[in-house]
Amino acid sequence: MPRDPRYDVLFEPVKIGPKTAKNRFYQVPHCTGMGSGYPHTLAAMRGMKAAGGWAVVNTEYCSIHPSSDDTPFAHCRLWNDDDIRDLALMTDAVHADGALAGCELWHGGRVTMNRYSRQGLLAPRELASAFVEPVQARRMDKQDIRNLLHWQGEAAERAVIAGFDIVYVYAGHAYLPMQFLSRLTNDRTDEYGGSLQNRARLIREMIEETRAAVGDKAAVAVRLNVGELAGFTDLTAEREVREVVAMLAELPDLWDVQYGDYHIDARSSRFAREAAQEPYVAFVKSVTSKPVVGVGRFTSPDTMVSQVRRGILDFIGAARPSIADPFLPKKIEEGRPEDIRECIGCNVCIASDYYGVPLRCTQNPTMGEEWRRGWHPEIIAPKTSGDTVLIVGAGPAGLECARALGQRGYDVHLAEATKELGGRVTLESRLPGLGEWARVRDYRVGQLEKMANVTIYRDSRMGAAEVRESGFAHVVLATGSRWGRDGAGRSSFAPIPGADRPQVFTPDDVLAGRAIPGPVLVYDDDPYYMGGAVAEELRKRGQPVTLVTPAALVSEWTVGSQEQPYIQARLIEAGIDIVVSHRLATVGAGEAELVCAFTERPRTIAARSVVLVSLRMPNDALYHELTSDSAALAEGIKSVTRVGDCLVPGTIAAAVQDGHRYAREFDDPPPEEVPFRRERIMLTPL
Ligand SMILES: Cc1cc2nc3c(=O)[nH]c(=O)nc-3n(C[C@H](O)[C@H](O)[C@H](O)COP(=O)(O)O)c2cc1C
Ligand code: SF4
Repeated sequence: MPRDPRYDVLFEPVKIGPKTAKNRFYQVPHCTGMGSGYPHTLAAMRGMKAAGGWAVVNTEYCSIHPSSDDTPFAHCRLWNDDDIRDLALMTDAVHADGALAGCELWHGGRVTMNRYSRQGLLAPRELASAFVEPVQARRMDKQDIRNLLHWQGEAAERAVIAGFDIVYVYAGHAYLPMQFLSRLTNDRTDEYGGSLQNRARLIREMIEETRAAVGDKAAVAVRLNVGELAGFTDLTAEREVREVVAMLAELPDLWDVQYGDYHIDARSSRFAREAAQEPYVAFVKSVTSKPVVGVGRFTSPDTMVSQVRRGILDFIGAARPSIADPFLPKKIEEGRPEDIRECIGCNVCIASDYYGVPLRCTQNPTMGEEWRRGWHPEIIAPKTSGDTVLIVGAGPAGLECARALGQRGYDVHLAEATKELGGRVTLESRLPGLGEWARVRDYRVGQLEKMANVTIYRDSRMGAAEVRESGFAHVVLATGSRWGRDGAGRSSFAPIPGADRPQVFTPDDVLAGRAIPGPVLVYDDDPYYMGGAVAEELRKRGQPVTLVTPAALVSEWTVGSQEQPYIQARLIEAGIDIVVSHRLATVGAGEAELVCAFTERPRTIAARSVVLVSLRMPNDALYHELTSDSAALAEGIKSVTRVGDCLVPGTIAAAVQDGHRYAREFDDPPPEEVPFRRERIMLTPL
């Protein structure tokens, strides 16, 4: 299909200093959980973005010196010439498809820990580390500042040798240059403190140093945080930030502007919609003639065009949309925007990085698998047999399994017990703030509807007899899971006394719309979103709600997805009482007994209903029924396999991945011992 002419503007080339980007799609710097520790994995993943049509593909933050070491968070390094080779793998991969490669040179100042390098932190003045770490930063003297500029220049030279086309001065988020910019973290009385001009001096000198290092071999970009962030409340778009951009307007070749620190900038869809940063970055183009890139979880080509046409942005910056769909630009270019796998804004990607492993993505099961398993987000091996496959259950695992097997050309039959497709995502997307999660279903159903070789049966509950009689060669059980009803979970191996009372419910009851009389106690013994989301839903229904958790924070795992402070704030604002560090000991008549997680001191609270958010149990009865009697299996059935939550309950991302993996490995099993390649440290002979 030819491209829709409405989107032509997105494919115009744009000059960035001495380089030209072939279109307006710009993958802004984003971490990957890979960094310098996984050079092949990283290069293959970035190369995939270039193949998918992004005109510019950046690194993640790339440290310029051991005094800025973010271990254990994965990041790139250009500390000396030995680090060049790793990154050259990436630039080669990016250049192979005609994209420009950018390198985000980084110094964290107080926003790092130096756990690996063991060097002291540096900052404009004495400051505590931003992390829960017993270290603090010392006040930089003039020599420290000269050193910093020297490191920036040297790293820029190395970036050019590595093949980068764009080299960054990273004054984004809350890192060192921002610490100099803000009065709150800069009390200096020398030429780097006081007036705005003085506080912006470091950024100016970093730009000049970078320019001197790269000459006309690369463009110089500045990433600037134009927002108000915790602790930097003197720097708002309305106030000094506008002046900073105006002051430095023509110095870099490109402005990459974002709003706030990570948890603000990369807010999940529960807390921010597409293009949410527009009000804060809209001023930038009015004060510079240089191209401007901005972000906003852009997945709609119409929104993108609007950003360009209305003069808000020159480049459509994207981190998460490029993770969920590395081929987003190609799909618009080829006139098939309906094929875009839209980011759902769940922030599982950020959590992967935060928890120290290569990125995974709920929508894109091939993310992070490009090198180690050779998975391509758009290409999959064609079928190798005429075998038929029956998939039971059209939740995230079943839908993805059907989609990928269908793409391979197999004859696929997908049976869903209810009238609606999507399983848990359909139900959970009705919870407050989770509406965009339905995209997991919508993308897959949209693809399946185009496949003549996939048949979908709704309202078709399959029992063992139906499966046996159906005559399909392979049976995949994607029947999901249900929430446990006895309260056993992370904090209690045994059932909770009283959990068998009629006033005890689970999230399944809430999702089914059952009446749950208040006051309700939501017992959240699960670290992710469900406890908070269910509490919010019940509050929305008008019930008094108390959320009790053995953890110190509500929805504790969402610290990694950068959502935790927002979730807790939203619950507090909604009028939900929160009791942390307490376990549920017993459920009584109209009340529940809690115990302090530290002292075991008891406490009783009134509760007409209790919702237990604890373990999930696989819906695997059909599997056991089918496999327990091998003689009864129809002769033609070659395999019965569980996927997703039916095998082991987990995240939606894990379910999608498992369904996808089944389809990839169908007829083509991986090596048994380790099913993927690993990056190896090469030992030199002693
Ligand atoms: C997984 C992940 C890692 C990120 N790491 C970086 C980083 O290393 N450097 C940076 O400047 N921004 C980083 N960001 C912020 C993004 O560049 C971007 O500003 C933010 O995600 C908003 O853009 P989006 O809505 O297109 O995701 C990261 C974002 C994500 C999702
Ligand atoms: S993990 Fe979620 S937020 Fe991240 S890119 Fe994928 S869909 Fe988007």
